[in-house]
Amino acid sequence: MNIPVIAIDGPSASGKGTVAQRVAAELGFHFLDSGALYRLTALAALRAGVALDDEMAVAGVAAALPAEFVGERILLSGDEVTAAIRTEDIGVGASKVAALPAVRAALLARQRAYRRLPGLVADGRDMGSVVFPQAAAKVFLTASAEARAERRHKQLIEKGMAANMLPLLQDVVREMRERDARDAARSVAPLKQCADAELVDTTTMGIDEAVAAVMDIVRRRVPRQES
Ligand code: C5P
Repeated sequence: MNIPVIAIDGPSASGKGTVAQRVAAELGFHFLDSGALYRLTALAALRAGVALDDEMAVAGVAAALPAEFVGERILLSGDEVTAAIRTEDIGVGASKVAALPAVRAALLARQRAYRRLPGLVADGRDMGSVVFPQAAAKVFLTASAEARAERRHKQLIEKGMAANMLPLLQDVVREMRERDARDAARSVAPLKQCADAELVDTTTMGIDEAVAAVMDIVRRRVPRQES
């Protein structure tokens, strides 16, 4: 069956998550936040006392992940973890477990199961390259490291982080560059723009403009569904 997939990949803080969610809502499509699955795997492993570099044990956790997505809420073994998976520590843990091939393999079928009618918008790093190589539209959404660091910095201020805890903007830029280099250099599913993905650079765009740019690509690439 021809179920359209819109694959949206790119680095962290590119605005990808928000844009992908808005595009899914406009199209009435399902939405996959694949980063959340890596974050949930890291949190579940830590809670089970599994070392994040124990590849087979973490893959076992990923294969049996007792996670549920209920509207905006995310549950792990029935426990609400919506906020708990968004911390910096879990972000770092997620990028560690994401570098393990057995963990990526264990999450593959689960991600593909999101492809249901009327269609799917999938957000991640390897949606167009590995998980949905046949996606009808592939977008690589990015922004300069400086723009992404500024957004992350602003988010921390808006979340009410105390001034004496707030990292310097220049440190956020440096960390952003280090994380990009790690994600691009890893041997499995490295972060890179696929040859058939269209680039959307949001450095000077607001969210509305970025959503419009992606919707343009979707209109060009995805045949309209007849009802
Ligand atoms: O997108 P998010 O920041 O939630 O992803 C957390 C981490 O999970 C990323 O830093 C990345 O290393 C990893 N990830 C991945 N492949 C995906 C989605 C996320 O490797 N498809």
